[in-house]
Amino acid sequence: MSYFHALSLSTPMLSRTITRSAKRSFSTSTAAINRCIVYAQNGDPTQVLTAVTYPKLPSPSPNTVNLKFLLSPINPADVNTIEGVYPSKPTHTSNLNTSGLGSKNEPVFVGGNEGLAQVIEVGEGVEGLQKDDWVVMDRPQLGTWSTSRNVPSHGIIRLPATGLTEAHGATMTVNPTTAYNMLNGFVELQEGDWVIQNGANSAVGQLVIQIAKERGLNTINFVRSRADMNPLVQHLERLGATKVLTYDDLNDKSLRGQIKEWTGGKDIRLALNCVGGEPTTAMAKLLGQDAHLVSYGAMSKKPLSLPTSLHIFKNLTSHGFWQTNWSKTHSRTEKEGLIAKLAEMMKEDTIKAPEHTIVTIGAQQSDEEATAKIRDLFAEMAEGKFGKKILLKLEDTAT
Ligand SMILES: NC(=O)c1ccc[n+]([C@@H]2O[C@H](COP(=O)([O-])OP(=O)(O)OC[C@H]3O[C@@H](n4cnc5c(N)ncnc54)[C@H](OP(=O)(O)O)[C@@H]3O)[C@@H](O)[C@H]2O)c1
Repeated sequence: MSYFHALSLSTPMLSRTITRSAKRSFSTSTAAINRCIVYAQNGDPTQVLTAVTYPKLPSPSPNTVNLKFLLSPINPADVNTIEGVYPSKPTHTSNLNTSGLGSKNEPVFVGGNEGLAQVIEVGEGVEGLQKDDWVVMDRPQLGTWSTSRNVPSHGIIRLPATGLTEAHGATMTVNPTTAYNMLNGFVELQEGDWVIQNGANSAVGQLVIQIAKERGLNTINFVRSRADMNPLVQHLERLGATKVLTYDDLNDKSLRGQIKEWTGGKDIRLALNCVGGEPTTAMAKLLGQDAHLVSYGAMSKKPLSLPTSLHIFKNLTSHGFWQTNWSKTHSRTEKEGLIAKLAEMMKEDTIKAPEHTIVTIGAQQSDEEATAKIRDLFAEMAEGKFGKKILLKLEDTAT
């Protein structure tokens, strides 16, 4: 499927249910608007996020590119960034409007770190990019919850493969790269080796399962228990999980023997930690000699505690992994190579786009309505209502 075919298929119909008074008034049947989701100060997303409309952007200056965003995820780290507790900080934007939000007097942060965009216009001196290319972000916090932005050309990477969906492209740079790098960067694993992880149903965890499967690696996957485990177990097994267990199973004294049976006594040398807290301590105890525990998330918000004996007697090494740091410390060629590899895996359906819900902010909605919608969305996410990745689509035209 071509990019454009994918685009036209996945663009939802505009909502017809909006009230007459809330509609924007357009002088022609089709109008374009620019809008982004911003916050003037850090805080609770349900209190600080605001939708703001801004005029048409000027043509891109030399070495910059005008982008139209097609789809942008809301990741857990975005919430931390808005709260002001994440190490990557967006820069203030003060050139969206001449007065009000986004102006010199009221600078804002534009939300969104990851996303898929289409090149609309390239500035002088830009090489290797042309109109209609699909691109992903190579710089953190470029403000992807926008209809359009002018960004430096070295802050983006062209997607090399055709045949990807918008959801593939929008979710390419954060989770698949993290999963791939954690499976490749710490332990030299051979076909038939075992990897253990918690938070296995997270987007990253599901990618770990799929990439491990492709490499012939076995995975033991821990998740939080729920009333009906079957649908989740079946889903993870369909993706290629070898075994799926719950954190409660970690308290079962027979588990160690069970795992020994599965692995044929082979040491497990890589554990991936998404959640921290007690389940991670218990998981680390299942590792063999000279193993590596790689922590990339702290979803339980509980500290990580490891018995000293694991370090002394088993030579356990505990690492942290941050994809942003990987990006900072690797060359453009390496980054393009990784994106090309992942795009190919997506095209071949070796790795799937995460299960997702697309939330559309319609072009005909007022900023007040859009603000209410985005704040309600974050409130629902905080209550755990979705269980799927949320992908934002900010429409820029209405008919
Ligand atoms: N270090 C890096 O470079 C890097 C890169 C990408 C992502 N991450 C981090 O990885 C984590 C997962 O990201 P994602 O996009 O894959 O997330 P996601 O798809 O939204 O999944 C969130 C996961 O966290 C679990 N979870 C939520 N609250 C929890 C709690 N209180 N205790 C235990 N588990 C809990 C969920 O389990 P339930 O289904 O049971 O709720 C689910 O497995 C986040 O912390 C994110 O910031 C880090």
